[in-house]
Amino acid sequence: MTIWNLGSINADIVYSVPHIPSPGETLASTGRAVFLGGKGANMSVAAARAAARVAHIGAVGADGRWAVERLLEYGVDTRHIVEIDVETAQAIIAVDTNGENIIILHQGANVKIPTHVLEQALTQAETGDALVFQNETNLQVQAASLAAKMGLRVAYAAAPFDSGAVMAVLPYLDFLILNEVEAAQLKDTTGQGPQDIPVKDVIVTLGAKGATWFGPDGPINVPAHKVTPIDTTGAGDTFTGYVLAGLDRGQPMLQAMQMASKAAAIMVMRRGTADVIPDLADVQSFSD
Ligand code: RIB
Ligand code: NA
Repeated sequence: MTIWNLGSINADIVYSVPHIPSPGETLASTGRAVFLGGKGANMSVAAARAAARVAHIGAVGADGRWAVERLLEYGVDTRHIVEIDVETAQAIIAVDTNGENIIILHQGANVKIPTHVLEQALTQAETGDALVFQNETNLQVQAASLAAKMGLRVAYAAAPFDSGAVMAVLPYLDFLILNEVEAAQLKDTTGQGPQDIPVKDVIVTLGAKGATWFGPDGPINVPAHKVTPIDTTGAGDTFTGYVLAGLDRGQPMLQAMQMASKAAAIMVMRRGTADVIPDLADVQSFSD
């Protein structure tokens, strides 16, 4: 089966900082590195690392060819990524000594994906395939409605949170994943907690407290592995990619979440984003 990912592709410019700067503060970084990133690309790479077949749908500018090459190198089908006349998206990321981050996004080509690219990609989808998308691109509603009509499993990571975007795609979803903050924002918008949302499977990730699955059997928590965080950036995306890959190979949700939780723990101990996502062998041999 194939996981179709309508997703962002970013150049992550990551600065290590002693603390997250305050308004008006000028702060020297202690290091700088560039990674392939974007919530979409991170999820594609995670699912591919977890041995799923992944086709990414997206857009970059001429300055993003390296990113497409890297996705390909990591095992992602890049035939539905187009090059357009808009600069590739960038994320300026600051990571402090506790591994916490702040991110400034320049959306660039991610929000200019042509409709025909999405439509053409999904004509090749088959029964049993899944679509995943996040909030860093355009075309979310089109993708969700088209995929639902075709009978694909529709999965959505509500990040970065946008109440309008969630409301618009909610009727099409089989699977919703969000973090604690996003879950609170969703509650503010809809008045509904994760257990009341009319979506078959909802997962709320809770950082060090693990992740809770709100499914047919009520809420079940999968604890997080205790690790010392170096850089939490991309850990949530890695978790999502691993869950989707597990479900794609027919694993029960809890088993998929347990693998994902290990993958996220490894990710938190690594500086960087898509380029450092662990593969299945790394994850299987992880123990804390
Ligand atoms: O979730 C982490 C990602 O958010 C980074 O890779 C960055 O590109 C932003 O999209
Ligand atoms: Na990381």
